[in-house]
Amino acid sequence: MSRLVVISNRVSSPTKRAVQAGGLAVAMQAALSDHGGLWMGWSGKSSGAREPGKPVFREEGRVTYALTDLRRADIDEYYAGFANSVLWPLCHYRLDLTDYARKDMAGYFRVNRFFAQQLVPLLRPDDLVWIHDYHLIPMGSELRHMGAKNRLGFFLHIPWPPPDVFFALPVHETIVRSLTAYDLVGFQTQFDADNFASCLEREGIGRALEAGWFEAYGHRFQVGVFPIGIDTAGFAQLAQNAVRSGSVRKIEESFRDRDLIVGVDRLDYSKGLTHKIEAFDKFIAANPAFQGRATLLQITPKSRSEVLQYATMQRQVAEFAGRVNGQHGTPDWVPIRYVNRSIGQATLAGIYRVAQVGLVTPIRDGMNLVAKEYVAAQRSEDPGVLVLSRFAGAARELDGAILVNPYDIEAVANAIAQALSMSMEEGRQRWKQMMDHLLKHDISKWCRDFLEALR
Ligand code: UDP
Ligand code: G6P
Repeated sequence: MSRLVVISNRVSSPTKRAVQAGGLAVAMQAALSDHGGLWMGWSGKSSGAREPGKPVFREEGRVTYALTDLRRADIDEYYAGFANSVLWPLCHYRLDLTDYARKDMAGYFRVNRFFAQQLVPLLRPDDLVWIHDYHLIPMGSELRHMGAKNRLGFFLHIPWPPPDVFFALPVHETIVRSLTAYDLVGFQTQFDADNFASCLEREGIGRALEAGWFEAYGHRFQVGVFPIGIDTAGFAQLAQNAVRSGSVRKIEESFRDRDLIVGVDRLDYSKGLTHKIEAFDKFIAANPAFQGRATLLQITPKSRSEVLQYATMQRQVAEFAGRVNGQHGTPDWVPIRYVNRSIGQATLAGIYRVAQVGLVTPIRDGMNLVAKEYVAAQRSEDPGVLVLSRFAGAARELDGAILVNPYDIEAVANAIAQALSMSMEEGRQRWKQMMDHLLKHDISKWCRDFLEALR
């Protein structure tokens, strides 16, 4: 069997496994521990002004990690700059937040070439190469220029916007062209794949052939839809064990006789945190019966603090939560418990299990694994209710959730009330439908489907 080689900017660090906020790292850890292979990416560290040397290797189980440092300027231009100040907001439909600079764009291409140079000496002829996410779109074409003949696959974990949004990017054609160098390009939902196909066709870059196949620049390649999953059975077991642990018991005890609503989102504008807090505020104001009773536990680890937008948000979200607490709180009740740090997966799993409602309301999200984890963690006899934004990729699969438009604050407030007063029978029916789907479409299936198509 050919070896699997995965490349992603963020790698689930073999030394710091416990706390890992971010869907890509969590999902790829689950996929690779199943399959084994080489996982290459950024160490998360800076080499200052010095050129980083060869990657540092580390074996763990069936996975070999190859981690490389990046120069400070590379991190600024490639990671904080083009990837997270241009591609991320653009792909989340936030043109207003893009901050395009040619210098950053040049840094982005330079780092992609650097990753390709690091990989080429490690490649075996029959390796399957699978590149992940918006940080590394041009890496495939760099590998081709360096003579790699391997099958090359790419998966985008975030949304792909419609052409009118994407074409605002000054180098849109180069980015789209880079994707045509792969043998297989995977998206989370059919919407994303359709948007990408429209981009190809609108600019006359490529043309559709038969089902899922395209031709561009004399190269045929395939576009597919592969909604990413979680290790459903493993996560359910983790949650079941976690509620017996001392730390989760303590948390549960602190909510005794109260209704717990849980939110878990990186501190990111795509997650709709201020809208969520406003909706919770409305819910409390409109439902006196829940005053003193319902608490939103919002777990929000810091993220990408080197990007201005994120630093600003840090203050904004804390202020929103503080205002609601000041207005509605009483000496013995805090409406919103805001935790601004990351929590390990086992504790999270336990918290999901003891929470009556999972509140997942991004304004745009490629998939959203938290929604799937919340469902997997529930007790079959008395499951909690998921309230989910229709703008998360997960909404395409989880229609047993109460689906909401996160911009409609009153609708979200009403959905919280509906979730808290749902009959056990209805809750069970909705949950079972979602759980059956998640058990069938788990992370192993996602990995298998993509690799079969790539082969
Ligand atoms: N996560 C975690 N600890 C935290 C917050 C999040 O382990 O404190 C994990 C969470 O369990 C999920 C992932 O980070 O697996 C977040 O993935 P998601 O797709 O929901 O959003 P992303 O952060 O990738 O945009
Ligand atoms: C999203 C992206 C991932 C990224 C993660 C965490 O899930 O799709 O590529 O790793 O967010 O963000 P960070 O910038 O910390 O890697």
